[in-house]
Amino acid sequence: MGLLLHLSLVVLLAAAYPGGRSALRRRAAPAQGSGDSSPAPSETKALFWVRISPNFMAEPPGSSVWLNCSSSCPLPEGFSLRTGLQRGQNISGPSWVSFQLLDVRAWSSNVHCFVTCAGVTRGATARINTYKRPHSVILEPPVLEGSNYTLRCHVTHVFPVAFLVVSLRSGGRVIYSESLERFKGPNLANVTLTYEFPARPRDFWQPVRCHARLSLDGLVVSSRSAPVMIDFAWSSVSKPLASTSIAALVVIFLVVGAAYLRKYLLMQSQA
Ligand SMILES: *[C@@H]1O[C@H](CO)[C@@H](O)[C@H](O)[C@H]1NC(C)=O
Ligand SMILES: *[C@@H]1O[C@H](CO)[C@@H](O)[C@H](O)[C@H]1NC(C)=O
Ligand SMILES: *[C@@H]1O[C@H](CO)[C@@H](O)[C@H](O)[C@H]1NC(C)=O
Ligand SMILES: *[C@@H]1O[C@H](CO)[C@@H](O)[C@H](O)[C@H]1NC(C)=O
Repeated sequence: MGLLLHLSLVVLLAAAYPGGRSALRRRAAPAQGSGDSSPAPSETKALFWVRISPNFMAEPPGSSVWLNCSSSCPLPEGFSLRTGLQRGQNISGPSWVSFQLLDVRAWSSNVHCFVTCAGVTRGATARINTYKRPHSVILEPPVLEGSNYTLRCHVTHVFPVAFLVVSLRSGGRVIYSESLERFKGPNLANVTLTYEFPARPRDFWQPVRCHARLSLDGLVVSSRSAPVMIDFAWSSVSKPLASTSIAALVVIFLVVGAAYLRKYLLMQSQA
């Protein structure tokens, strides 16, 4: 019995972590009941399944959730839950137990449910992730430094940072994008992205926005900043152009003035 339990745990863990670190990515397309155990060929007596539903959730930190653990076993001897999360109430039926978990804050937790049927124990695993939509996404007005514009975007109170992608877009075009996978911190965080933007004439007068996107296995949470304009007038390229146009304007005034003056002088001489 002890050995069997151990074996089913190994199978369960292997099923839950098919590729070690890549397990999270693989679950991007969660197969129906991916955490289910499958009966070993030598244990035909123990042909029953255990399912936990839903097997993936993404909730704001502090949420309470319900998970339903069910089994095809006609007479289950017992259901048990293994989790580091705080337990709440439960409701049960003949072949299922619905468990409440309180105040979920860890960014990712696995919850295992075990069912014993005819002396054989099997399990299924669910994952609960937590996320927090950014409190704000603010793009500072661009600052011209040398030939580049410095774009600085602040994303505040966001979680988990490892699932965040921050991008800068001019018009519809992505000018820069950064994935923050390497930041595994367990807390809400502020993120500041700074990018030196070598703006070209096509970028002038285009609205630039900063986008913050959290992707949690199918759930996508997007926020964006208010637009800022790359101000043509402050660009080093625009200075000669601007003075050219002022010169042109002055020339036009002068030409018009001279034309009026000639006309006036002509009228004067004819009078
Ligand atoms: C739990 O799942 C079982 C089997 O799918 C279903 O019959 C039952 O109604 C569910 N219980 C709750 C509380 O959702
Ligand atoms: C359901 O809750 C009761 C009371 O909190 C507890 O004694 C019982 O063990 C729970 N059932 C399961 C299957 O965990
Ligand atoms: C994040 O930014 C907010 C608002 O700018 C500030 O109040 C807060 O203290 C910052 N938090 C951290 C962890 O830096
Ligand atoms: C301008 O930005 C580009 C791209 O970010 C960078 O390669 C280049 O070194 C920057 N030039 C200056 C003068 O900062």
